[in-house]
This record gives sequence, C-alpha cells and structure tokens, in this order.
Amino acid sequence: MSRPRIVLTRRWPAAVEQRLAERYEVVLNEDDHPLSPDELRDALMSADALLTTVSDRVDAGVLAVDAPRAKVLVNYGVGFNHIDVAAATARGIVVTNTPDVLTDCTADLALTLMLMIARRAGEGEREVRAGAWSGWRPTHLVGSRVSGKVLGLIGMGRIGRAVARRAQLGFGMQVLYYNRSPVPANELEGLDARACHSVEEVLAAADFVSLHCPGGVTNRHLMNRERLAHMQRHAFLINTARGDVVDEAALAWALANGIIAGAGLDVYEAEPRIHEGLLTLPNVVLLPHLGSATEETRVGMGLRAMQNLDAFFDGRVPPDRVA
Ligand code: DGY
Repeated sequence: MSRPRIVLTRRWPAAVEQRLAERYEVVLNEDDHPLSPDELRDALMSADALLTTVSDRVDAGVLAVDAPRAKVLVNYGVGFNHIDVAAATARGIVVTNTPDVLTDCTADLALTLMLMIARRAGEGEREVRAGAWSGWRPTHLVGSRVSGKVLGLIGMGRIGRAVARRAQLGFGMQVLYYNRSPVPANELEGLDARACHSVEEVLAAADFVSLHCPGGVTNRHLMNRERLAHMQRHAFLINTARGDVVDEAALAWALANGIIAGAGLDVYEAEPRIHEGLLTLPNVVLLPHLGSATEETRVGMGLRAMQNLDAFFDGRVPPDRVA
C-alpha cells in the first residue's frame, strides 16, 4: 500500500522529520521559506495532509482550490487563527493543533518579557553592546520592581494559569484575571486568583497585564486605544498570545505618550513585520515569536502533531481535533 504523502510547510526538528519519514512520504520545504498562497494551494492538491505552522495563511482563498487531495491540516502549534477553520470544515478538511506541550515554555517567556521590560534589560543590553556603559551609579537604568506587584491576566486557559502560578509562587504577585467563561475550580487549585467581571476591571487594577486569549476575529484589537488608556500609567503590557489581539498603532501611541509605561511583545499583527513606531521606542521589548522555542518543546510539538497525523491515517479521531 502506498504511503500517505505529507507536505511540511516549514522545516521541523530533525528527530521529528526522521520519525515522519518512517511512515509517510514526506515532502520537505528544503530552504524553509514561507510558502506563498499558490504553493499552499499546490500542496493542498498534491498531498494527503498538510502540516502547517503559524507562518502559513490558510485562508478561504487558499482553501478554495478545485479538488483538494488533502483531508487534514495538522497544525504545528496551539494557535490556529491563521487557518480559516470554517472554510476547511466546509471542504471536509479536518484541523488539529498541539496544545499542552508548549504551555510551560510560553509561560516562561511571558515572565521573561515581564522581567525584561520592568528591569530595563533590553536597554541595558543595548547600552553594554554599544560600549556606552560608563559604570555603576545610583540613578542608572532604574526600573520597576516585579515582586509583589499585581498581575492581570486576560485569558485564563492553560498558559494563563501557568503564568499565574509562576508569578504567584515565584514572585509573590497578586493575580487577577478575566476569562470569557467561568474557570472550573479544579483548574485553579493551588492558586489565589481573583476573577474580574470585565477586561477593563483587570486593566484598571494591574501593574502588569499579560494577554493569553486566542487571536482571530473575536479578539482582534481587544487592546485598542480605549483599553490601553484604561491601564495605569505605570503599568506594562505583555503579549505572548497573538499579534492581532493588540492594535500595534495604538500601542505605539500609548508607549510614546506615556499612557502606559512599557510593553513586552513576542507576537505581532503582520509577522515578521513590526509597526515602525515600535521599533524606535526604548520602552518596548521586542522578541521574534520565541514562546515555544526550546529544543524540548519544539520536539514535543512535532511529536504531538505526529500523534494527530497517525490517528487520522489510522482512521481514529485525532486527539487534538479542533474542527
Ligand atoms: C503556537 O503554538 O500558537 C505558537 O505561537 C507557535 O505557533
């Protein structure tokens, strides 16, 4: 029997690519370039499965190909707002993701950003590398204390809760959160976190606001000018969720005009492009979408994606089917 043909839209950790090659006819994107809409369409027509990542825009236009051979989109990543799930479902294409495996590393990176922006680590690093450090002095790069402050979470899913635990147990922070639906008590076990009734309630009280809600239409520009103005002037905004949750132009305005003190970002509205206004500001830390970027997690994501792929081709329901 011929082996299912699968297209990997980007290079994956070598160990996972090898495992995939044992069972599938694997088509690699040798030079790891982001695939164009036409290349994605070709892949949908020529392969049994497409293994996508956040850098692929699988929208209704791409999915409108005449006769898709692919019957499953196995996404390497937990977020899937880059896939038009309704259009995929309408074409009879199953979509899966990789939850759980990246929770810890993404939460670690949210804390990294909190510490970097509050303690002015990016500014300090740039100063040292520029040869501009003139030595210790009481007034040099004075930042803001993180320990004991109030952390406000927008979204209290797996990653939000992992951030809450780190902040509370490691830094003695007080945790507030807003989640669209009530969070079951067992998921909050061991955490002292207060639920708020609205996003605004969190914004008004938090010293750090960290975003952990999904991207896509519902949350697009959730953090707009009005909401940024709801934050305290000394507060920091952290985004490791999805770029489209923040209106980048509004954020650049808020940072430049002292509406908020600073921001730590890992994700952007039009990656890899970043709003020009942000690039020159000292009070924003800009990372290149590194949330899940550890050896352990990237291999874990690949193996989790493979479990979904195997289940699909074994005729089982993939464990992480989202549509
Ligand atoms: C995720 O899994 O959603 C990460 O952001 C990478 O896509």
